[in-house]
Amino acid sequence: MGFFGLFSKKEDLVPLRELGLVCDMHSHLIPGVDDGAKTVDDSINLIKGMAGLGYKKLIITPHFMTGFYNNTPDGVGNSLKQLKAEVERQNIDIELDVAAEYYIDYDFMRDLSTKPMLTFDNKKLLFECSFTNQHRNFDETVFEMQINGYKPVLAHPERYTYWHGATSLMNEFHDRGIQFQLNILSIIGAYSASVKKAALTLIDNGLCDFIGTDLHNKNHLAIIENAMIPASLFEKLKSSNILNNSLL
Ligand SMILES: [Fe+2]
Repeated sequence: MGFFGLFSKKEDLVPLRELGLVCDMHSHLIPGVDDGAKTVDDSINLIKGMAGLGYKKLIITPHFMTGFYNNTPDGVGNSLKQLKAEVERQNIDIELDVAAEYYIDYDFMRDLSTKPMLTFDNKKLLFECSFTNQHRNFDETVFEMQINGYKPVLAHPERYTYWHGATSLMNEFHDRGIQFQLNILSIIGAYSASVKKAALTLIDNGLCDFIGTDLHNKNHLAIIENAMIPASLFEKLKSSNILNNSLL
């Protein structure tokens, strides 16, 4: 045993899959509509992986981002139908549904009052922000969602570096009715140490409502399948009010 081994007690690790999450509400598994699965085969392989992890229901959330991913509810709805048929044909025991991951921009703000939006669990609306700059009209956009009857769920708040360390602001957002969805990849440090730290801070402050895979490809799946977390974090998550399984 080396010098540091004498003084540092290594904490036991627990497979994250033992949290028993059975519903996921953030992934990119509709083939060919965004930067996730490219083909039906890709989708099916990823869905089989999710079933193997114990998931019973996937609410798939393709990117909706003007100029990059010009998706429509009808378009992704038709693709979902085809994917469901293939899942059934292959006897994969999993339920599929579709919502969206909306990027907040001007078009999104306008569409909120004029077009039907793709949501889950009675008007919960998953949205994401720029990774580099805080949205100038963030507060107004959230307000617009709420006055149109939507319940905002912020995708991976821990990944927005401009909010790192802003715990009181995060609490304020949460108090104003924004729910938070953290990524598994963040919690285990797959993006960066600072994103992991931000995720753990949100968990410590009771600001983790959903845990999502944000699954795009087989590399993500392999990381999620092998994810291990310290026993203390596992216990903390177990006793947190994580809402994934209420979506079944
Ligand atoms: Fe995503």
